[in-house]
Amino acid sequence: MVSDMPNIKFIKEKQEVVAADGANLRFKALENGIDLYTFMGKMMNCGGYGQCGTCIVEVVEGAENLSPRTPVEQQKLKKRPANYRLACQTMVNGPVSVVTKPKPGEKVEYEANVFQQTSSAPESAAPSAESRLSSEDSDLASAEPIASGSSDSETGDADSSPGKLETV
Ligand code: FES
Repeated sequence: MVSDMPNIKFIKEKQEVVAADGANLRFKALENGIDLYTFMGKMMNCGGYGQCGTCIVEVVEGAENLSPRTPVEQQKLKKRPANYRLACQTMVNGPVSVVTKPKPGEKVEYEANVFQQTSSAPESAAPSAESRLSSEDSDLASAEPIASGSSDSETGDADSSPGKLETV
């Protein structure tokens, strides 16, 4: 489980996305199939340049983990609640929960346990290569000088894969 990377919870969609530190909120939403735009926004959005004001999200939790409002947001959102953000202008630095396409006065039910995780994090464990090597094999590989041959590529590949699970 990746615990040191920011998680973005999209409450309406019941979807949780793992993002790299400093990830752009609009980009992560679109990358994971989250629909940010109303009908008009779909037709007329500016593509993430802070010009159209259609990528609004409501921040329900973790506002302190987001980059501060940009001058563009100050202007576009001056008549909106303080917890509204333009997703395209917002960088995620920690856990956050957001509501897409918020409507004033709308209450979106928040159920903590219903989130489906969509991880685009680089960690997809590949334990099979590692589990082939016993600890005895590893000791031999490090003690002996590596001869140039076809067998050393297998050992090198197994060592280079990070974060594996032991299946033995
Ligand atoms: S996409 Fe236009 S303001 Fe965010």
